[in-house]
Amino acid sequence: MTPNGKVPFVDLVTLHREFEPELLAVCKRVIEKAGFIGGPEVDGFEKEFASFCETKYCVGVNSGTDALRFALIAAGIQPGDIVITVPNTFIATTEAISQAGARPDFVDIDGRTFNMDPEKLRLYLETQCALDPATGRYIHKGIGKPVTAVVPVHLYGQMADMDAILEIAERYRLIVVEDACQAHGAEYFSKKQNRWVKAGSVGRAAAFSFYPGKNLGACGEGGAIITNDEGLARKSMMLRDHGSATKYYHELEGYNGRLDAIQAGMLRIKLRHLSKWNEQRRESARIYDELLAPMSGSVVAPFQASYSKSVYHLYVVRTPVRDELQNHLNEAGIGTGIHYPVPVHLQRAYSSMGWKKGDFPESEKAADQVLSLPMFAGLTVDQQQLVAATASQFAVSYAVR
Ligand SMILES: Cc1ncc(COP(=O)(O)O)c(C=O)c1O
Repeated sequence: MTPNGKVPFVDLVTLHREFEPELLAVCKRVIEKAGFIGGPEVDGFEKEFASFCETKYCVGVNSGTDALRFALIAAGIQPGDIVITVPNTFIATTEAISQAGARPDFVDIDGRTFNMDPEKLRLYLETQCALDPATGRYIHKGIGKPVTAVVPVHLYGQMADMDAILEIAERYRLIVVEDACQAHGAEYFSKKQNRWVKAGSVGRAAAFSFYPGKNLGACGEGGAIITNDEGLARKSMMLRDHGSATKYYHELEGYNGRLDAIQAGMLRIKLRHLSKWNEQRRESARIYDELLAPMSGSVVAPFQASYSKSVYHLYVVRTPVRDELQNHLNEAGIGTGIHYPVPVHLQRAYSSMGWKKGDFPESEKAADQVLSLPMFAGLTVDQQQLVAATASQFAVSYAVR
């Protein structure tokens, strides 16, 4: 049984205990050389993470939000462009689009995978946009601006249906930037390439977050852009460092968005364990699937598409009695989360944009029904059995089994 019978939503304390001496050694190494910014730790991490993701380049930055913003700017998004994403995501996705000077717009998700529905993307482009023969770009007929990019979000650790999205993007001349902030190491079977491909390796560029709770988390803030495009990588390196490639020579106006050396060093240590941790998460997901199967009428386990190997950043069930189930679990000392309670198009931050309830019904339904159960590397079978038994008591008492 778990200590004091409780199951945390995520346990980062136990995870780091094993590495504490190695992590502290990084601090010592960096402090001894006063190499706080850039240097061998950052260079080393960038090489190792690019190799893990099977891409040529990685540019370390200070957050996933900046990674996405820099990737969009470096990919050539222009002020006023429309960039399409999904409403069922963390607001950082649309913040990065707006901060790159573009205007976010949405297509709804597939209710089973919670990821972008390629068919809805196709419909959006087909029905709401028209080709401008002068520029070769697709213009949104209502807004009058060009649609130039799409940001599929690989939510909860599962990749979006990238073959279909890439094919549509090619037809409509859209740049694809993957939001892989929740999908370190996730894989997708590309029929086009007839092989499994890694999250972040198929778009023009991709953004990762190393927020501490991610599958690969820093001991603070961190993020990275990965790409196979040398020019995009070079521009991203300038953007993170005040637009300069050489100190005090600024080719453009950039940002202060660097990854610091201590975080890079710590990420290098943790990266060596990422594949093992992802496997542990997959095994935990398999066990949850089994334990929850008797409740499948009321608590629906996550759907893994046949083209997908999820890394289960989150294990998200759906149930029509979500709030009641969450209260029941929380009262029993089981931590849970809701990712996310309000879809982005209905956030107050976007109230001036004119979106309204009913615009993206699948995302809205997800926001009402999703519940994230405890999921982290190191979650024990005992803990999972306690979660499932407590959920089952609830299902009985609500007579929804
Ligand atoms: C889908 C998604 N996009 C972007 C981000 C932004 O990452 P960060 O918090 O590192 O800026 C996150 C982080 O939570 C995320 O989950």
